[in-house]
Amino acid sequence: MKKSINDIQVKGKRVLVRCDFNVPLIDGKISDDNRIVAALPTLKKLIADGGRLVLCSHLGKPKNGPEAKFSLAPVAQRLSEKLGIQVKFLEDDNVVSDKVREGVNALKDGEVALLQNTRFRAEESKNGEAFSKDLATLADIFVNDAFGSAHRAHCSTVGVAALVSESAVGYLMEKELKFLGEAVDKPARPFVAILGGLKVSDKIGVINALLEKVDKLIIGGAMAYTFFRAQGYNTGTSIVEEDRIDYAKEMIQKAKDKGVELFLPIDTMITKEFKADAEWQCVDADKIPDGWQGLDIGTKTQELFTNALQGAKTVIWNGPMGVFEFEVFAQGTLSLAKAMANLDATTIIGGGDSAAAVIQLGFADKMSHISTGGGASLEFLEGKALPGVTAVQAK
Ligand code: 3PG
Repeated sequence: MKKSINDIQVKGKRVLVRCDFNVPLIDGKISDDNRIVAALPTLKKLIADGGRLVLCSHLGKPKNGPEAKFSLAPVAQRLSEKLGIQVKFLEDDNVVSDKVREGVNALKDGEVALLQNTRFRAEESKNGEAFSKDLATLADIFVNDAFGSAHRAHCSTVGVAALVSESAVGYLMEKELKFLGEAVDKPARPFVAILGGLKVSDKIGVINALLEKVDKLIIGGAMAYTFFRAQGYNTGTSIVEEDRIDYAKEMIQKAKDKGVELFLPIDTMITKEFKADAEWQCVDADKIPDGWQGLDIGTKTQELFTNALQGAKTVIWNGPMGVFEFEVFAQGTLSLAKAMANLDATTIIGGGDSAAAVIQLGFADKMSHISTGGGASLEFLEGKALPGVTAVQAK
């Protein structure tokens, strides 16, 4: 059991809080602030307890050091609005400097500062010592609440934890670990997993691991076309990972050996062009003509998958069923979101695209838990230890 923010005394102390403020930006504006909202319970608790908060996060993947488009300035502003207090943005391309230290040391109890994007420092993603040490100079206590980044062994998630005398996980991290952990370790059954999204290669570990645990596995999304090929179907111009066809065959066999019911699409929505208003038709899975590509599960598959979910007590879903950004190819994803919303079950949405889809389609409040971690939730479901969690002290 990890130490939690309920177990620490923060009054008058500098608390370095690693959040995941890696939010999508369109023209410099935050287009989805779910990750900011998800951090609020931890921040409010630490503020109320009189901590002097120093927040840090990465944003995007800056390759060559500081880049204005990856500045956390918009996050500082949105956070100030959400918290109802001024969040001081300690903007510095070096992230930590004497000036930043001055700013941190000037904080009073209950005040909040935000550092610049941790990835502006080249050492961050290499867990380099110099930056971890710099971060540690700003903290009496380290709190990791960045579940979305917990699979990264970086300075701000791992390196700094070892250099600060006390560490704990925040409420968001605890909630994520509780929902995902209970689903994996002691799921109410029947336990169904739904996997979709672009590539089989992104989900290799997770398909394999879930086949050890679930009663049913549903596979849709573009990755299903690799499974089509594994069954000998023509796939036209659909996305197929040729080098994963054998793996798909192995997984079909593994499901049989383990007695897991595997549901693959039996029909698919196809088009000749990848665009919102493209001409489309729905064909059986083994009838994709040359020159056409599948972009969503078909109507018979929607029914098949919806029926497969009935009676489930735990459902985990990671990856959309189709190109939900285009209305015509959003129907598969929509049908599953509806089916899950109507279940009397623990329903968990893995982060990334599936979370975006469920939120965009208006089903967010119908799910038991929507994870803020894409890669992190997949690695957790694979059974891997998350370095950002491991690094935090035990109770
Ligand atoms: C995410 O968006 O999954 C996390 O913030 C981690 O981001 P990363 O893949 O750039 O490390």
